[in-house]
Amino acid sequence: MKDDLSLTILISQMTLEEKAALCTGESTWTTTPVERLGIPAMIVSDGPHGVRRVPNANAISQQSLPATCFPTASGLAATWDVGLVEQMGQALAEECIALDVDVLLGPGANMKRTPLNGRNFEYFSEDPYLAGEMAVALISGVQSKGVGTSLKHFAANNQEFQRFTINAEVGERALREIYLPAFEKAVKKARPFTVMCAYNKLNGEHCSQNHRLLTEILRNEWGFEGLVVSDWGAVHDRAAALQAGLDLEMPGPKPGRVASVIAAVRNGTLAESVLDDSVRRILRIVFMAADTPKGANGAKGSPFNVDAHHALARQIASEGMVLLKNDGILPLQNPQHIAVIGHAAQAAHFQGGGSSHIHASRVDVPFVELQKLAGEAELMYAPGYPADDSFQQPLIDEAVAAARVADVALLYVALPTYKESEGYDRPDLDVTRQQVALIKAVAAAQPHTVVILNNGAPLAMSEWIDDVNAVLEAWMMGQAGGGAIADVLYGKVNPSGKLAETYALKLTDTPAHINYPGELGTVHYGEGIYIGYRYYDAKGVPVLFPFGYGLSYTRFAYSNPTVSAHEFMDVDGVTVSVDVTNTGKAAGKEVVQVYVSDRVAQLARPPKELKGFAKVALQPGETKTVTIALDFRAFAYYHPTYKQWVAEDGAFDILIGSSSADIRCTQTVTLQSTQQLPSILNRESTVHEWQADPRGKVVVAQVFEKMQAQTQKMFSGGDSEESGIGMDTSAFMDDMPLLNLLEWMENEFHEPAEVIVHRLLAEVYT
Ligand code: BGC
Repeated sequence: MKDDLSLTILISQMTLEEKAALCTGESTWTTTPVERLGIPAMIVSDGPHGVRRVPNANAISQQSLPATCFPTASGLAATWDVGLVEQMGQALAEECIALDVDVLLGPGANMKRTPLNGRNFEYFSEDPYLAGEMAVALISGVQSKGVGTSLKHFAANNQEFQRFTINAEVGERALREIYLPAFEKAVKKARPFTVMCAYNKLNGEHCSQNHRLLTEILRNEWGFEGLVVSDWGAVHDRAAALQAGLDLEMPGPKPGRVASVIAAVRNGTLAESVLDDSVRRILRIVFMAADTPKGANGAKGSPFNVDAHHALARQIASEGMVLLKNDGILPLQNPQHIAVIGHAAQAAHFQGGGSSHIHASRVDVPFVELQKLAGEAELMYAPGYPADDSFQQPLIDEAVAAARVADVALLYVALPTYKESEGYDRPDLDVTRQQVALIKAVAAAQPHTVVILNNGAPLAMSEWIDDVNAVLEAWMMGQAGGGAIADVLYGKVNPSGKLAETYALKLTDTPAHINYPGELGTVHYGEGIYIGYRYYDAKGVPVLFPFGYGLSYTRFAYSNPTVSAHEFMDVDGVTVSVDVTNTGKAAGKEVVQVYVSDRVAQLARPPKELKGFAKVALQPGETKTVTIALDFRAFAYYHPTYKQWVAEDGAFDILIGSSSADIRCTQTVTLQSTQQLPSILNRESTVHEWQADPRGKVVVAQVFEKMQAQTQKMFSGGDSEESGIGMDTSAFMDDMPLLNLLEWMENEFHEPAEVIVHRLLAEVYT
C-alpha cells in the first residue's frame, strides 16, 4: 500500500507513455507493470462463485486451474445467510492467494428484471436489499484476506440480448430504488477494490463512458475510492472513457488504445490531470493488492484446502436449496427400491456457461452421493432425457419402466446450457419438451415422485407440478451439490432456503414482459420500480411461488412482535423484534423477513419492500428472539425532483413474515421527519402541490380561501342540470394548476393570474 504522497511522487516519475499504458491491460488477465519504477502487474480472474485462474494470461478460454466451484449467486442468495456467504468469500480468497490472483471478478449485483436474462444465475435477487446484503457479505469475506473484488456489472445489465449495445432506458426512481442500491450498499459498506462497468448503455450513454454513473454517482455521491475496470471489451472511445471515470481498460494488450490516449493528451482533448487521476487510482489498488503475498505454489498447484472448501460448498448448496412442494414424501423414509431418473443424476449440472465457468477441483455425482445415504437400498438409473435438444421416447419408456417397479422415483431435471447461459437469453421459462413429457409419464406410473431441479432462474411448472409429490429447487448448486441434494432428500439437512426471486405462473405474467427485450437498440424499463414481488403485489397477479418462499421439514410460529418505539425520528430508525418458535419435531432454520409498507406517500410506492431479514436456527420446541434494525433508508423513497431520499412523516406498517406472501405479524409505527425539503413549486404546480408544500401552504392561504369560496359559488345554484350539485369541489380543484384556476377567477382577484402566481412564487423562494 502506498500513501498519497508516495503515489504523487511515483506519478511524477512516470512518462506519458507509461501512464497511458498503465490504463490498459498488458494481457487478458494482467495489468501493465512498470518495472523500472517497481510497479508490479496485478492479476485478475473470474469470478464470481469460484476462481477461474487461466494459466496463460493471454488466453481467454484456456482451461483454468482446478478450483472449488461454489453454488452460483441464485443458490447463494437463497441461503439468506450472510455469515455463510462471507465464509465462502474467505474460501475464495484463500484460493485466489493459492492461485496467484489479486482481484476476483465478482460479485454481480444486478437485479433480476426478467427471469429470461440468461445470466440471472450469476445474480442474486430481484430485490435490491437482499442483493446488497449478499454482495456486502461476499466482498467482505474475500477482502478480509487482502484479496480484491470487482463489483459488477455497473449498471443495469439486466439482459444478455444485445448486451454490448442495448440502451437501458431507466427512470430515475427505478435507477435509485431498484437498480443501484445493491451497488451503493456494497460500495459504501464493503469497499470493493474495483467496480466493473457493464457493456450496455444506460440512458443513452455506454456505461464505460458514462460520467454520471462512474464519477458523479459512484465516486462523488458514494465515495468509491477504488478503480473502475471495463467489462472485457466494453470500451468504445478510450479518451472519453477516461474522461467519464473509467480507469482501466481490459483486456489488453491494445497498443492502439494506448496511442490514442497519448495523442489525446498531446492534442489537448484530454487533460493530463484526468489521466493522472486514473493512474493514481490504479496504482493505489495495484499496491494494495501487492500487500498480500500470493502464489504459494506458483500459479500451478492448489495448496488451498480442497476438502474443507468442498465441504463448505456442500453446506452452502444445501442451505440454499429451496423445497418448493412437499406433500410429506420428504424426507425419504428409507425406500428400498429407488428409480433415479435423469441425465443430471449422473452428470451433475452445477454451474452456468460463460466467463464464470470453473474447472472444478472435484464433482459430486448425485447418483453416487444418493447411494451413500441410501445404504442397502437398490438404486436403478435411467437417463430419461438426452443431453441435446432431441426428443427420445425410448428414454422416457425406459424411465417409466424403472419408476413402475420402484418405491419412489427421484427425477433429476436440469435445464440444459443451450437454454440458459451467459451470452444469450432464455426463450421461455420452460424445461425441455422431453423433460415435461418425462415428468408426466413417470408421475403417472409412480405415485411417489420427487423432482429435483438444476437451473439458475425461475421455471414455469404449471404443466406438471400437480402431478408430482415434491419439488426441490437445487439451483446451479456448485461442485458439491450432488451430496447436498442427498442430504436434503434424506433429511440430514432440513431445507431452509427461500426464494430470492418470484416464480411466475407464466411468462406473460412477468413484470417486464411487454418491455422486453426492446427494439431499435433500446429497452425501456416501463415497469419502473415495480419489478419482482413489488409488481405482483401491486397488480394482484397470482404467482407460482412468491419471493421469500420455501418449505421446511418443521414449522415455525411467530409471536410477541414488538417495536422499540411506536413513534420515532427518521434519523433514529426503529428496531423490530419477534419471537420465533420451532413447533415441529425436526431441528431447522427459519428466515425471518421484515417488509415495510408506507401507508400514504406523495409518490406511488410498492405495497411492501424488504428491509431486513435474519436466519435463525432452532431446535424442536426452542424459541429465539429475532431483532432487526430499520434505518432511515428502510422508510425512504427516492424523489427525483428533490434529487434525494425522502422519508415522509406518517404511518408505516412493518410486516414480519415467513415469505412475502406469508406475513405473520404487523406493527404500525409513525415516522417523524427531520428533513427540511426545499420547495419545488413552479408556475405549473397544482393546488394540491401548493397545499402539500409547507412554505407554499402558508403563502397561498389567503388566495386559497378566496378561491374556495368562489369555487363553491361557481358550482352551486343556477340551473340544477348544469350545476355541480353534489360535486366534490376541493377534489375538482386539487389537480388543477393554481395558475389555471386563478385564470378562471381573474375577475374576482382584480389582478392577472400570472402576476399573482409570480408574486406567490417569489414569496416562497425568498
Ligand atoms: C463478462 C465478465 C467477466 C469478463 C472476463 C465478460 O464477458 O461479462 O463478467 O468478468 O468477461 O471474463
